[in-house]
Amino acid sequence: MLSAFWNGFVIILTIGSVLGCWWLLMWTKGVSGRDDDQVGTTGHVWDHDLEELNNPLPRWWLMLFHITIIFSLVYLVLYPGLGNVQGVLGWTQLSQYDKEMAVADAARQDVYAAFTDMTPEQMMASDEAMGIGRNLFANNCAMCHGSDGRGAVGFPNLTDNEWQWGAGFDNILVALKQGRQANMPPLGAALGEDGLEQVVAYVQSLSGQNVDAELAAAGEARFAVCIACHGVDGKGNPLLGAPDLTNDIWLYGGDADTITETITLGRNGAMPSHADILDQEQRRMVAAYVLSLSQGN
Ligand code: HEC
Ligand code: HEC
Repeated sequence: MLSAFWNGFVIILTIGSVLGCWWLLMWTKGVSGRDDDQVGTTGHVWDHDLEELNNPLPRWWLMLFHITIIFSLVYLVLYPGLGNVQGVLGWTQLSQYDKEMAVADAARQDVYAAFTDMTPEQMMASDEAMGIGRNLFANNCAMCHGSDGRGAVGFPNLTDNEWQWGAGFDNILVALKQGRQANMPPLGAALGEDGLEQVVAYVQSLSGQNVDAELAAAGEARFAVCIACHGVDGKGNPLLGAPDLTNDIWLYGGDADTITETITLGRNGAMPSHADILDQEQRRMVAAYVLSLSQGN
């Protein structure tokens, strides 16, 4: 709603412009002719004899102007255009938007209805479902997980069979609905400089990297502060999102410098919730697509 001042301002400006056009039309039409059939001149003369004639506007052209003026008046009666005046049709941008959204929603429901009762396996077997899933992934996930789902540093690869938060369709659905917040606390201070070096060597040894055996052995004892989350054997805990440290798959990196940084600073990878972005059916569809990526389909 416009304030009284702006309401009046808009109305006067709009009506004034329309009337102004009409007046201009009448005025220029009037100056043209002389009474005889001779065409008058504007009185401008160049180079002694080059006169500017003042031909009247062709009738059809004049009519076009009249029609546009009448159109604008009819439009202003039917549609909102004069400040707060609603227009007799009651049309609003918002109601049009809602109507179009309802149509689009209904069309989408029709598309998804076919998949509502499908199991993940059935969806993975359906080219249509996978096509929709691929589009949803491209629009909502690719910016973080990569267009091929292979991720990047800090963004997990979804095509391997390593699942920080647990494998399977249902775990993917939870990630989509609730998001995932990892919490690896900074532990550099607790370990001290020597302890840090030792535990880094031990972590590297877990995945079979060549490290100083003595350092690694000393690090094993230090690993006690880690087992609450990563487990005694370093295989991780999906309930906490603590990754398996014994394989060659790294979210941040498996070299000594990166592991040192991880332990010193901690890590707080966050997967945002998509509950407000994708509805239940869309989440199922994209989850099935993600599952298909790791199954080599
Ligand atoms: C409170 C639980 C917790 C403790 C204690 C903990 N971590 Fe972690 N750690 C995590 C979580 C959760 C992640 C995943 C972080 C992320 O996804 O951002 C992680 C990630 C890591 C990574 C990164 C792995 C990768 O793929 O890049 C390393 C290395 C690591 N932890 C080593 C350790 C070591 C060594 C200790 C003990 C000194 C330790 N963590 C203690 C929960 C823990
Ligand atoms: C803003 C970036 C971002 C977007 C967008 C995003 N993710 Fe994630 N996702 C992450 C991060 C970061 C993690 C890792 C969280 C952690 O450290 O534990 C993650 C984790 C996951 C996991 C858990 C992986 C595992 O190993 O357990 C799944 C599944 C997942 N994302 C799927 C998706 C899907 C499907 C979409 C699209 C609908 C999506 N993500 C969109 C950043 C994102």
